[in-house]
Amino acid sequence: MAWWGVLGILSSVLRATTVLAATNSECLYCHSSKLPVRRIDPALTLDPSTYSASVHGKHITCDGCHVGVGTDLLSHKDANTPVQCIRCHGQKDSVVPEQYRDRYDSIHRRPRKAGVSEVPTCKDCHGDHDIEAPSLMDSRVNKVNIRVTCGKCHGSPGSDIAHKAPQTAVDYDKSFHGRKENHPGLRTATCTDCHLPHNPKAKASTEPIDKVDIPGICGRCHPGIYSEYRSTIHGRDLARGIKDVPACTDCHGEHTIRPPWEAASSVSPLHVVRTCTKCHENKRILRQYGLPAGRYSTYRDSFHGISNRFGDVRAANCASCHTAHRILPASDPQSSVNPANRVKTCGQHDCHEKATENFAKGTVHLAPSQSSDAVVYWVGLCYKGMVLGTISLFVGLILLDLSKRVRLREKHGPEGGEAE
Ligand code: HEC
Ligand code: HEC
Ligand code: HEC
Ligand code: HEC
Ligand code: HEC
Ligand code: HEC
Ligand code: HEC
Ligand code: HEC
Ligand code: HEC
Ligand code: HEC
Repeated sequence: MAWWGVLGILSSVLRATTVLAATNSECLYCHSSKLPVRRIDPALTLDPSTYSASVHGKHITCDGCHVGVGTDLLSHKDANTPVQCIRCHGQKDSVVPEQYRDRYDSIHRRPRKAGVSEVPTCKDCHGDHDIEAPSLMDSRVNKVNIRVTCGKCHGSPGSDIAHKAPQTAVDYDKSFHGRKENHPGLRTATCTDCHLPHNPKAKASTEPIDKVDIPGICGRCHPGIYSEYRSTIHGRDLARGIKDVPACTDCHGEHTIRPPWEAASSVSPLHVVRTCTKCHENKRILRQYGLPAGRYSTYRDSFHGISNRFGDVRAANCASCHTAHRILPASDPQSSVNPANRVKTCGQHDCHEKATENFAKGTVHLAPSQSSDAVVYWVGLCYKGMVLGTISLFVGLILLDLSKRVRLREKHGPEGGEAE
């Protein structure tokens, strides 16, 4: 094609006379999608106005990213070399934000599972010719668009097969934070509020989030609950690095967070018991921290526990008495179950509003033994003996009767019995 040759010569002349890089318009002479005549495969064209409006359009020319590609087609042998954003964004002390090592330290860079190759590159999250500053609403990495950007691999039709990535966004969409009507990213938390995309120095990156950091992450938007939680036995221990205690997400879930008034929530009155007992019935945890056992069995057999099992959400559950975010040992004067505070705890609105000192005295987790609650223990034991004795008596009588009948049959034959 003659005109390419002419252009080649022209551009060599241009290059000989100037040391400046090729200008965008030189490249766009062939690569613009807005040309009156089609010069090349439309798949290789781009919209010049999109590019000039992008964050790079004002700062760098095409060959800033497409290094070594000139206007002559001979130099196009380098055109297929993948673009290295890190040329500029990885330099120490460069004017552009330094992101290179950050990304290289993330899980996306070092996939653990065999066969995972579809981890995101800069382009997958940022785009190529339409990159914008994250603060602009149009940017793919602006908080309001993050669900779509991350969801390409973490939860869109077919992405489980294509990318072998955990399909987290599917759950997230149904959670309180993720539901469209709650404006994820604008009001509620989106992926990058909890997972920073590339920054190992920050509290959380796409690395698995350290449990110790979780309350602080949630606390940015739920500061009241955070400050309560920090003073609880659970919160104080976690801050000291003890990971057997619950962070917010052990009770609420991560991508399944729902408010307590929704039945499916892990903290709804119907599920709180299960949420607490997954640790408070765990033998290792009970032993290691010297925690009292039988919390579940004593609750289950109590009036509250029976009502709760039958779906009566008004009956007290673990959090009604212990609170959700101010849980303290009974010996702590601030604890809702400290003897000094029990009248108030039992007397909550809609519970036993007329509770008295005496009413609140009773043991709640009643597990009677010879040493504690001995009267209840002995009465219980007698009662059990009585029930067992009565049952044994009846079983004995039935057996005697049966054996008599069998013997009679043997003696008189099946027809000759006097029974009928
Ligand atoms: C004379 C027309 C022309 C000019 C000017 C031109 N290109 Fe190209 N470019 C082409 C053609 C034709 C191809 C396809 C080449 C092929 O498939 O081997 C191409 C391919 C490319 C590709 C590779 C696309 C791919 O994925 O295969 C890149 C990147 C590219 N050009 C960048 C540039 C840049 C940057 C400039 C300016 C410095 C430029 N081009 C100037 C015609 C041109
Ligand atoms: C900020 C970096 C950057 C700049 C600046 C840039 N590109 Fe690209 N370009 C990319 C990336 C990323 C790709 C995707 C291919 C890849 O990952 O290597 C791409 C792909 C292309 C392709 C292949 C076709 C396609 O769309 O996939 C062409 C042609 C191209 N660029 C031309 C240009 C031209 C012409 C300019 C200047 C107007 C330009 N590029 C400026 C990053 C850039
Ligand atoms: C030739 C150097 C160069 C290359 C290569 C380059 N960039 Fe940039 N980038 C810049 C400059 C310069 C800015 C503008 C910085 C500013 O405005 O402060 C910028 C800005 C950005 C911003 C906006 C930052 C902000 O805080 O507003 C993003 C995002 C970005 N680049 C991503 C990329 C990606 C992704 C690639 C690869 C496809 C890439 N860059 C390749 C030079 C480069
Ligand atoms: C191009 C596809 C792709 C995109 C886009 C993507 N991811 Fe991933 N991501 C993966 C793959 C694949 C893995 C699995 C790596 C592994 O298990 O080895 C992964 C792993 C993760 C993990 C760690 C999982 C674990 O097991 O601990 C987190 C967290 C994560 N991604 C968050 C995000 C966030 C947040 C975004 C958006 C800002 C995002 N990802 C965008 C493909 C993607
Ligand atoms: C998993 C998706 C993902 C990948 C991969 C990714 N980024 Fe980002 N990037 C983001 C998100 C999301 C933000 C916005 C962060 C925020 O809101 O604070 C961002 C912000 C940026 C910024 C602006 C930072 C600032 O402080 O203003 C630059 C520059 C950038 N990324 C460059 C890169 C480069 C270069 C690469 C490849 C080496 C890359 N990113 C890979 C998602 C990603
Ligand atoms: C409210 C905070 C929060 C939000 C919002 C959130 N995550 Fe998570 N995510 C977590 C926590 C906490 C974990 C568990 C700790 C860990 O594994 O890093 C987690 C774990 C993950 C994992 C690993 C889980 C697995 O099954 O292996 C992936 C992948 C992930 N998140 C991706 C996402 C994506 C994609 C989004 C947006 C659709 C998102 N997350 C939104 C807090 C959040
Ligand atoms: C970016 C801010 C943000 C982050 C981070 C965040 N949330 Fe939220 N969350 C919200 C907003 C806003 C609401 C809606 C509040 C409302 O409507 O009253 C909400 C609602 C909730 C609800 C539903 C109950 C209610 O009050 O409406 C729960 C439970 C919840 N968040 C727990 C968490 C947990 C646990 C974490 C950490 C893993 C977390 N949130 C992180 C902003 C956030
Ligand atoms: C030991 C389990 C547990 C832990 C740890 C926990 N929560 Fe809760 N949370 C609950 C229960 C149970 C409820 C519902 C009962 C209630 O409303 O008092 C609840 C209710 C909530 C609500 C909605 C109701 C309200 O009071 O506004 C939000 C928001 C919330 N939690 C956020 C958090 C945050 C943020 C953290 C971490 C700082 C956290 N939770 C830690 C168990 C827990
Ligand atoms: C992730 C596991 C876990 C979950 C979930 C959990 N806890 Fe705990 N809890 C612990 C551990 C471990 C301790 C012991 C801390 C220590 O002694 O330092 C503890 C301590 C306590 C204590 C103080 C006990 C004492 O003797 O000092 C009370 C009361 C308590 N939890 C109630 C609850 C309630 C109520 C819930 C549900 C709303 C709950 N916990 C959920 C692990 C858990
Ligand atoms: C009706 C109120 C009530 C309910 C419901 C309740 N508790 Fe308690 N809990 C108490 C009181 C009061 C104490 C103080 C000692 C006692 O009476 O046994 C206590 C003591 C405890 C202790 C030991 C605290 C210490 O410092 O000795 C743990 C752990 C505990 N409860 C966990 C639970 C769990 C888990 C559930 C749910 C299965 C639950 N509780 C349900 C009122 C309640």
